[in-house]
Amino acid sequence: MTSKRTARLGRALGLVSAFALLGGLSVGPAHAADAPASQASLLHPEKWPKGGTPRLIDPAIEKKIDALMARMSLEEKVGQTIQGDISTITPEDLRKYPLGSILAGGNSGPFGDDRAPPKDWLEAADQFYRVSMEERPGRTPIPVIFGVDAVHGHGNLGAATIFPHNIALGATRDRDLLRRTGEVTAREMAATGIDWTFAPALSVVRDDRWGRSYEGYSEDPEIVADYAGAVVEGIQGVIGSKDFMKAGRTVATAKHFLADGGTEGGRDQGDARISEDELIRLHNAGYPPAIDAGVLTIMTSFSSWQGVKHHGNKQLMTDVLKDRMGFNGFIVGDWNAHDQVPGCTKYDCPASLIAGLDMYMAADSWQRLYENTLAQAKDGTIPMARLDDAVRRILRVKFHSGLFDKPAPKDRKDVPPLSELGKADNRAVAREAVAKSLVLLKNQGGILPLSPGARVLVAGDGADNIGKQSGGWTISWQGTGNRNDEFPGATSILGGIREVVGQNGGKVEYDVAGNFKTRPDVAIVVFGEEPYAEFQGDVETLEYQPGDKSDLALLRRLKAQGIPTVAVFLSGRPLWVNPEINASDAFVAAWLPGSEGGGIADVLFADKAGKVRHDFHGKLSFSWPRTAAQTPLNRGDANYNPLFAYGFGLTYKDKGDLAALPEESGVPAEASGNTGIYFRGGRAPAPWSLAIGDQVGDLRVTTTSGTSPGQVVDLKSVDVAAQEDAKQLTWNGSGLGSLVISGRPVDLSRQSNGDVTLSLRYRVDQVPTGTVNLTMACGPDCRGTLDVTKLLAGAKPGDFHTTKISLKCFAAAGAQMATIEAPVVISTEGRLGLTVTDLKLDADPGNAVCPGA
Ligand code: BGC
Ligand code: BGC
Repeated sequence: MTSKRTARLGRALGLVSAFALLGGLSVGPAHAADAPASQASLLHPEKWPKGGTPRLIDPAIEKKIDALMARMSLEEKVGQTIQGDISTITPEDLRKYPLGSILAGGNSGPFGDDRAPPKDWLEAADQFYRVSMEERPGRTPIPVIFGVDAVHGHGNLGAATIFPHNIALGATRDRDLLRRTGEVTAREMAATGIDWTFAPALSVVRDDRWGRSYEGYSEDPEIVADYAGAVVEGIQGVIGSKDFMKAGRTVATAKHFLADGGTEGGRDQGDARISEDELIRLHNAGYPPAIDAGVLTIMTSFSSWQGVKHHGNKQLMTDVLKDRMGFNGFIVGDWNAHDQVPGCTKYDCPASLIAGLDMYMAADSWQRLYENTLAQAKDGTIPMARLDDAVRRILRVKFHSGLFDKPAPKDRKDVPPLSELGKADNRAVAREAVAKSLVLLKNQGGILPLSPGARVLVAGDGADNIGKQSGGWTISWQGTGNRNDEFPGATSILGGIREVVGQNGGKVEYDVAGNFKTRPDVAIVVFGEEPYAEFQGDVETLEYQPGDKSDLALLRRLKAQGIPTVAVFLSGRPLWVNPEINASDAFVAAWLPGSEGGGIADVLFADKAGKVRHDFHGKLSFSWPRTAAQTPLNRGDANYNPLFAYGFGLTYKDKGDLAALPEESGVPAEASGNTGIYFRGGRAPAPWSLAIGDQVGDLRVTTTSGTSPGQVVDLKSVDVAAQEDAKQLTWNGSGLGSLVISGRPVDLSRQSNGDVTLSLRYRVDQVPTGTVNLTMACGPDCRGTLDVTKLLAGAKPGDFHTTKISLKCFAAAGAQMATIEAPVVISTEGRLGLTVTDLKLDADPGNAVCPGA
């Protein structure tokens, strides 16, 4: 039964037919390539909303621009159109390359430290600015503009006020609150000398599998259009008023133009295959109000429309956005995204500028891109008029933003001081936002509000975890690896509960796993998604914890003991959680609240007399799915049948009872979205299976023990933290033997482009006597193998160790990350004793290693 190909793969791994046994060797691209540009991709600019009162054109400023441009060299003009990331550019570089802008991307911080203190941010901003303004012969001083992703507060800094992510703000339906979040963010940025935020995202999120769902306010254009102007005004000040771009204001960016939230399957950087009408009606909704509010920059999207990358789409950038909709600021690109335009590389892309991009985000490619663009401006590849227009737009923004008048960041007297960061007033705005964003989905028997005099058990790994409650784009790009002590002044959800209960005679007992010494009156369980950002957060289905269900187990344990339970669910999108809802008496969607976890206790607890202090206010701005397969799911769909509709949200006045929900996920096991958990709780969760094999044959292990057909590898279940939660493997050295975890091919290329690791938790019971290989296999003759002999030989026998291996190492060793069929294969000809408890992907790179490299 073993096909030739299977046999080859099996032999390569030291097995005969593992893959035939395990089924599924169909190797093919996981998703179809982008459709070629077609007739259908032609736009009709006259269908788009026509710009109203022209914004940002001030004759006095235009005159200053004329004068300045008359003095600028071609080098200086080209330089203005390029932005480099501070991880690869120094102030000294600006002397040689007169770039117009710098950014600090999600993983970049001043002086190479992503976790640098506030004063270092100010220092870095100051140094770059000073170099750009130096008076030198043959050089026109033009202030450099420094941008960061302050997408939920000035979140690169742990000391900042970190707001709930936009999905939560969408639930508040409070435009004035949105304006205030913008104001606070701008002031805290200005305090650190940074002039520009790549926010707000005006994404209209149509498929919640998208890893950036939480960056959008809503699935519906209504809320996005309503908020856009208010947020821009909050950040920049009201255009036409004295306050516009004055001290304490920063430049805003509407992003990502266009239809970033409308891609097929919710794939990040994917293709929106929708009609022009939908493009206008749904995805463009936020842009006219943002332009009307004077937004100074717009970021064009990584994604495509009908197969055409936005970074090369002249009709969209020039004919529609600038000419028709009247945008007079500048268009900035996304992170090396011009690289994806046909015919371009990240170092060389005249097509983007010609199509209407004004500033390339040439994160690490700025130097060669500058040289190539300069050559293309010289030889006429890039028309001078287009270059001049781009430069004019950039200078216009710099004049409006006051950058020419503001002294260097450290000398700015009228901006808020560094103590603005995390100031009590600012945190109060965030706490209000948290309280108003909570959406109550169930309140059986009116268990909420709770009495602050109660004995409260707090459990779950989100309870005392400010990093987890803040999500992606927090200190680091992915938001992983953050410790509570890196958020001075912030409050965890537990901290907020302790405050209220402590002041009112109640008692709090905290245990992540839900164990207690004193029987509680009620348990609050805080759990949810681990932080992620961008493509690393894309998922296959909407099932919460596919293949894991450890939080469900916790809720059920408490239920079995008769303890009333309140679930506080942290997530960047609605997920299918029917079993978790059934196992809880009250269920609160808390989204990603950020640094002010106290806002949760504000709503959950009444006062001593039982009077409600803050009622639930939040209403869903995203529809909540009935099954894990129900996506896309949006208000207005034909046959719209969500579990909780857009606009749903209980208050304390409502009866909150909910009948038991069906617990079928709607996703067949083979299609499980579990791409990252290979072994946990003693088994390989679907779609993965575990086998042991040798050159005689292999054995798929579904029971507690087994021996490979040629007697080389022996396996048995053992108890580590719980009953049979681990497997102990013994290789006896009589030939090549392997442990293989395999399933259908999964695409791990996004994880591998990011910082994701393969994390192994194991104990060495007998040190290896021969070479031990760890392989990721992607089909016959396709694999990346790392020699882990030293690693295992160096691990203290008898102790448990966690080793994280960067996926990039497997890719470098030859694995095709787009079609991984066997994510973990451990093989040796020697003797080896190994007990494993967890094999999984981990987005937190921690101390990732690359063994054998
Ligand atoms: C993201 C943008 C972000 C930029 C800078 C990109 O990868 O798509 O939203 O502004 O990086 O960090
Ligand atoms: C950067 C992010 C950026 C991402 C894009 C990261 O290394 O820090 O800002 O959005 O790369 O791939």
